[in-house]
Amino acid sequence: MTMSEPKAPQPKEIDWNNLGFNYMNLPYRYRAYWRDGEWQDTGLTEDANVTISEGSTCLHYGQEVFEGLKAYRCKDGSVNLFRPDQNAKRMQKSCERLMMPKVPTDMFIAALKEVVRANEAYIPPYGSGGTLYLRPYLIGVGGNIGVHPAQEYIFSIFAMPVGNYFKGGLTPTNFVASEYDRAAHKGTGASKVGGNYAASLFPGQIAHDDGFSDCIYLDPIEHKKIEEVGSANFFGITKDGKFVTPKSPSILPSVTKYSLLYLAEHRFGMKTEQGDIYIDQLDHFAEAGACGTAAVISPIGGFKYGDNFHVFYSETEVGPVTRKLYDELTGIQFGDVEAPEGWVE
Ligand code: COI
Repeated sequence: MTMSEPKAPQPKEIDWNNLGFNYMNLPYRYRAYWRDGEWQDTGLTEDANVTISEGSTCLHYGQEVFEGLKAYRCKDGSVNLFRPDQNAKRMQKSCERLMMPKVPTDMFIAALKEVVRANEAYIPPYGSGGTLYLRPYLIGVGGNIGVHPAQEYIFSIFAMPVGNYFKGGLTPTNFVASEYDRAAHKGTGASKVGGNYAASLFPGQIAHDDGFSDCIYLDPIEHKKIEEVGSANFFGITKDGKFVTPKSPSILPSVTKYSLLYLAEHRFGMKTEQGDIYIDQLDHFAEAGACGTAAVISPIGGFKYGDNFHVFYSETEVGPVTRKLYDELTGIQFGDVEAPEGWVE
């Protein structure tokens, strides 16, 4: 028996303005197989199922890395990819950590373009706010069972049209500090690996059950500093206008976060810093948000830690700097604002 998702609705049946973040079985995905030390059998397939050995390392030991990026429909009908080279590089670093073969940057980008072209009818229209989310992943496969790297791998990229990841998009929501850790200090937190997200499921559920959008993880050594959201990075705007993000070996290096650091400094002349953000010094901040490919920028209204509840800017209104950064970033992504050299393909 094969378990399979139903096919996606026809593009004309999709409500582009209310997409959310849900899997859709689009017509095409890319697949490549690593055997005998090289990538083979590369190309598009209509098969949404992946059949692998029950002894695969991805099933037992979490030998899996993934990425997330988006294709944007521009006003003139053209399509932008945002900094795909950065996702390729990050995946290569994740591969180093999990002892997996790397997908070369040019192969990664060419494969993305094939998937986007083949599923072009599913790119949400300009103005809907939706995008085509691309999910590259790489898994260790083959009869293995010993705790050592697999001999064979599958690299695949599928796509789905998406809207907001956090409810309301650019509307503030509340977050809560987690008592749990998503990654150890020098563990795999800086790699985009499935295990980090598995570790975040239970704390995330507790946060949702308590009415929060998600939890914020604190540093795994002392639980005194903000690390990240799990599904996004954290940033704050200090009362004197500095853009600050946490620096730690256990947070994921978000492409969106690095793009915002650049835009804050080079487009808005702001001071920027990657450093420590102590939970007992949140009064230094005028605004805060979660940022990532899926999240884009999601303003953090209130933050509960222990018995305290800190409101950054407002629980209902978006702060002016957060809005300015959001407009600049999304303007670049949708082709309305000039992009820094090499940012859009
Ligand atoms: C992304 O932002 O692309 C991610 O991979 C986060 C994921 C939890 C949706």
